[in-house]
Amino acid sequence: MKHTKIAELLKSDLFLQDFTVKGWVRAFRSNRFIALNDGSTLNNLQCVVDFENTPEEVLEEINVGAAIEVRGMLKESEGKGQRVEIEAKEIKILGIANPEDVKKTILSPKRHSLEKLREQAHLRVRTNTFGAIMRVRSQLSFAVHQYFNKNGFNYVNTPIITGSDAEGAGEMFKVTNFDIKNPPKKEDGSIDYKEDFFGKESNLTVSGQLEAETYALGLGQVYTFGPTFRAENSNTSRHLAEFWMIEPEVAFCDLDGNMDLAEDFIKYVIQYILENCEDDLAFLEDRLAQEDKSKPQAERSPMLLREKLRFVVENQFKRVSYTEAIDILKNSKPNKKKKFNYIIEEWGADLQSEHERYLVEKHFKSPVILFDYPAKIKAFYMRLNDDGKTVRAMDILFPGIGEIVGGSQREERLDVLETKMKELGVDEKELWWYLDTRRFGTCVHSGFGLGFERLVLFATGMGNIRDVIPFPRTPKNAEF
Ligand code: 4AD
Ligand code: MG
Repeated sequence: MKHTKIAELLKSDLFLQDFTVKGWVRAFRSNRFIALNDGSTLNNLQCVVDFENTPEEVLEEINVGAAIEVRGMLKESEGKGQRVEIEAKEIKILGIANPEDVKKTILSPKRHSLEKLREQAHLRVRTNTFGAIMRVRSQLSFAVHQYFNKNGFNYVNTPIITGSDAEGAGEMFKVTNFDIKNPPKKEDGSIDYKEDFFGKESNLTVSGQLEAETYALGLGQVYTFGPTFRAENSNTSRHLAEFWMIEPEVAFCDLDGNMDLAEDFIKYVIQYILENCEDDLAFLEDRLAQEDKSKPQAERSPMLLREKLRFVVENQFKRVSYTEAIDILKNSKPNKKKKFNYIIEEWGADLQSEHERYLVEKHFKSPVILFDYPAKIKAFYMRLNDDGKTVRAMDILFPGIGEIVGGSQREERLDVLETKMKELGVDEKELWWYLDTRRFGTCVHSGFGLGFERLVLFATGMGNIRDVIPFPRTPKNAEF
């Protein structure tokens, strides 16, 4: 008999019919009530065991963590806490879980810290919290593809191994198959990359943008959604060494169009999970509210999780130029009282996350799009404004998260781009193909990158980015 998903049965009215379900035991009370979870929903199915007619050896193996199959009749439940239950007729043990061993893991039914759960990332998806997070993550990524598909974008897969450094930040993981103890050397003693697998230095991509740009200038509207890698040694709750980025790129689109697209896109995917992840979001909302209780008043979230999500969907993001933002920050209390770690003294300063969070959480109390940054603190490919000192960049800042999106209108003028690359020491020979796009049919175009895990952080109300990706990669940690 084909087995039925628990999510389906919990909504079903097909009483007195027989069903088979398969899942993992979450609890077993009084030798009679199994709470069974199969991952299709946060909610467990209660299976009532007829223990007199169940073999002793089967009863003994119905332990927390075991995989079992239950065949039985769907009934309206008499007990509190559930609408329906399965009256078991036959139980099969599919995979045992020894209670003594389970005790040593996070499967044991008690509260475990998020740190503890991280150490057992291979098992944590069997907890309510991680089941909920990962279902929301999955729904969000579906919504991403749906949004772009509905809006006429082409999905492109940009390379993961690349010879270029899109951000010019140099924080790249090298890719080589040299014997690292004994790489071939040139006469002057330097490593001879001509001998390496790709015949040149190569690395894991930090962004698919440059390649995506070439595709936008042919397909019109494209997006990437793939893994990106950064060897920055930032041990924060917002940084991963391996994270997923969504990067749309649009021809004949300026910075205003880019901001409109980013805002519309974010609202769409958040609205999608509000409509499709009700149980999981309700659970995560409660979790957050519980967690907040143990925090000092000032650190508590002013809104419940779904209120926060609805706020984003229903309100316009504030659009503020970098110059206006600097004025606000200069005159802010924490700046005057020297409470910021980095005091804002003058125009041109790079914004730290403490400044971004001040703007979003204290000043505007809303998502903010900052635009027209100083050219000096941004990447080489951003379009220079007529003032000669700012570029058409935009960052979207979110409450509790800080920067969630970074993007820009791209410099489409060959001469300006070349000058800029020379200034910043970006190798023109390396990027000959990128420059070609400015030689052949160049046009105004724009795009942005959204860090998917930062979106999932916001959507789930979690506090640490390590808890919204199945197996986080961070400095000194690549377990699993
Ligand atoms: O601002 P970034 O560095 O922009 C780019 O890479 C552009 N090439 C994107 C583009 O225009 N196509 O990164 C974009 C976003 C950030 O706003 C942030 O959300 C996320 O990627 N991000 C990270 N997320 C997790 N861990 C890290 N180490 C991240 N670094 C950036
Ligand atoms: Mg950025």
